[in-house]
Amino acid sequence: MGRILITGGTVITADEEGRVFAPGDVAVDGEVIVYVGPPLAREGAVEDAGAAGPASGTLPAGWRPERIIAAQGRLVLPGLINAHTHAAMTLLRGYAEDLPLMVWLQEKIFPAEARLTEEDIYWGTLLAQLEMIRSGTTAFADMYFGMAMVARAVEESGLRASLARGLIGISSEGERALEEAVSLVRSWHGAAGGRIRCLLGPHAPYTCPPAYLKKVMAEASKLGVGLHIHLAETREECEESRKSTGKSQIENLEELGFFELPVLAAHCVHLEPGDREILARRGVAVAHNPTSNLKLGNGIAPVAELLEAGVTVALGTDGAASNNDLDLFEELRLAALLQKGRTGDPAALPAAQAVSLATRMGAQALGLAGVVGELAPGRQADLILVRADSPRLTPVHDPLAAVVYAAHGDDVELTMVAGRVLYEGGRFLTLDEERIRREVERRAARLRGLEGPAR
Ligand code: NI
Repeated sequence: MGRILITGGTVITADEEGRVFAPGDVAVDGEVIVYVGPPLAREGAVEDAGAAGPASGTLPAGWRPERIIAAQGRLVLPGLINAHTHAAMTLLRGYAEDLPLMVWLQEKIFPAEARLTEEDIYWGTLLAQLEMIRSGTTAFADMYFGMAMVARAVEESGLRASLARGLIGISSEGERALEEAVSLVRSWHGAAGGRIRCLLGPHAPYTCPPAYLKKVMAEASKLGVGLHIHLAETREECEESRKSTGKSQIENLEELGFFELPVLAAHCVHLEPGDREILARRGVAVAHNPTSNLKLGNGIAPVAELLEAGVTVALGTDGAASNNDLDLFEELRLAALLQKGRTGDPAALPAAQAVSLATRMGAQALGLAGVVGELAPGRQADLILVRADSPRLTPVHDPLAAVVYAAHGDDVELTMVAGRVLYEGGRFLTLDEERIRREVERRAARLRGLEGPAR
């Protein structure tokens, strides 16, 4: 950390006005961004900072960078925000393939998860973070168990995360899990210099009956935290809700008062008339997970209509067992293409709006609006540099189109969170890549062995 000037790149601010500075400069002082705009006059310092153009931020007289990063041929943008994942599921990457959700979950994933130790979860989360840091993700919303180990892993990586202990109300462990969730919030909410925040994570309406949800809601309001849940993911669960209660999942939750708390809802694929209006009115943030929804055969969320209705939509990868990677650039491209394909309108989810899903709206979804998600003075310096000088990205007529339709996670050259560089030019600066990969390989082999001979 310190005073860093990133100069001469194409700066995609992802702010409300969608400003792009080509070329532009970004100045970082400690944890925060202090300047974004046209290149600063550097000869002899930057006293005239902010004097010209639509720049924002003014630097103290005589501000001099301790480090200058030349960003010519690079895109500079806010770090991407993964609004729904189960990081430790990297251990189960490729473990259960080509199955429908309920079979995938109940016959493969749940039994495998029952064999995971807390140490497994720690190492699996470290691996997920290597992958996220490497592909330009700077914050993620995680729901899993063994979350104290996840928090420890986040503390070490330098990433930003919103953590929720997943809660299954129909399990005999439901009460104990809720106690664990509460203690996670007490120990970790606001920890690691504010990088870690906590939520409560009731898994889904079909695994958490109303009486249990009420207990979770009561705890959340006592603790002053929001909720992270899976909603309307499969057609079957939605039909079941309609059949047994006469209402949609979302209508039921509205009636329960669930949406009076801040809610991050993963999926929302199968919505009924009226659901969108409830989500918009209640300020529910939807985490759209296009790859996972396709892979598990669940369909395509009506993202264009949700946005039209005024709903905050963020992007997620879901766990690595249903994706199978954690590269948000893939989700960006897929999200945009799917909306065009399903609506027949090539103008649906245009590139600038797609970028806002992974940045500004992602920040809103994680309760971090005004903190991260755009490049602007006063925001935390969570940003990435993407190499745009490869054959795939040459030329850059339109920087936003380059990010959404052409860039891959591998094009990320530098990842910074709160002013601290976590990855640069192939090197991880907070995590030991070799050791983490070795540990995960060893643990994955043990998990396969416990199941019996390889199939
Ligand atoms: Ni999920």
